[in-house]
Amino acid sequence: MAARMAGQDPSRTTGSTKRDFLTLGDCTPDELRYLIDRAIELKRLRAAGAADQTLLGRSIAMIFQLNSTRTRVAFEAGMAQLGGNAIVLGRADSQLGRGEPIEDTARVLSEMVDAVVIRTSLHEEVERFAASASVPVINAMTSRFHPCQLLADMQTYQELRGSIAGRTVAFVGDGYNMCNSYIEAARQWGFRLRIACPPGYTPDARLVATGNDVVLAESPREAVENADLVVTDVWSSMGHEEEAQRRRAVFQPYQVNEALLEHARPEVLFMHCLPAHRGEEVSPTLLDDPRSVVWQEAGNRLHTQKALLEFLLT
Ligand code: CP
Repeated sequence: MAARMAGQDPSRTTGSTKRDFLTLGDCTPDELRYLIDRAIELKRLRAAGAADQTLLGRSIAMIFQLNSTRTRVAFEAGMAQLGGNAIVLGRADSQLGRGEPIEDTARVLSEMVDAVVIRTSLHEEVERFAASASVPVINAMTSRFHPCQLLADMQTYQELRGSIAGRTVAFVGDGYNMCNSYIEAARQWGFRLRIACPPGYTPDARLVATGNDVVLAESPREAVENADLVVTDVWSSMGHEEEAQRRRAVFQPYQVNEALLEHARPEVLFMHCLPAHRGEEVSPTLLDDPRSVVWQEAGNRLHTQKALLEFLLT
C-alpha cells in the first residue's frame, strides 16, 4: 500500500519554509490531529510488515546532552524504518562539549543533514539552535517542554478511548516540563486540565494563564475526581537529582496509586512518560494495573516520531 506523504496533506500550512517542533504551539490543532492519524497509520503499516520508506536517503543528527532511552531509540529506529539514518552525538562526542558555539554547530549540521533533534536542559539553547539552523529542529526534551512525549500520549488516548476533546485530564506531581506540555496540549486538543502540585512546584503562572480550561487543584484527589486520564512524572527530573531527598518528602502526598485512581472515572487511563520510580510518584504496582497504558504509550513514541519526521522532512 502506498503511504500518504505528509507533504500531500492539505493541513500543511507552509511551502518551502523550514518548520521546527520546539513546542506543541509550533503546529496548528489540525496539524497535530494529522500527526496522530498518520502515526496510527504508520503503526498499522508496520504491524502488517508493509515497507514505508518515505525518508529514503535522508539523514538526521541527534544531539543528546542528557540521557535518553525512548526518545533516542524511537528516532533512530524510526529513521531506519523509513529508509533514512540517524547520527547520534552524545554529550562527550561533539565539539559542543568543547565549547563550539551552538549557532556554529547549527549552521554546520544544516549543511549535512535534513533535520536535527536536540535534548538539552536549557530550552533557550534549543531556540538558539533553531534560529541558526536552516533545517527543521526538533525538541527532544528540555527543562521547559517535552512535546514529542505528548504526541505519543495523545495517540494512546485516541487509540483506546477516541477523541480527547472535552475530556478531563489530571496531572499530579511536579509542575515541570511534562506538566507544561500538558498545558499546551489542553489548548491544542481542547481538553480540560486539572493540575495538582505541591506548593512551590506549580507550573509557570503565565503558562497556566494561556490555557482555556486549566485549573490548579487544591489536592490530588480534587484533580483526579471523575478524570478520564491521570498523568504523572518523576518527582526529580534530570538536573534535580541533588534535591531528590527533599523532594521525596514534599511530594509523598502526591503519589498516584490505586486508591487515588478510584476517584477517577471507571474507564480512566493512567499514563507516565517513563522512566518511573516505583514507590515514589507511582505505587509499586500501578504500572501493571489494567488502567495503566504506559507500555503502549512508550511504544507509540516510535510511531508519532516517525510521523513527525515525515511531516517536517517531506
Ligand atoms: N519519556 C522519555 O522521554 O524517555 P527517555 O528519557 O528515555 O527518552
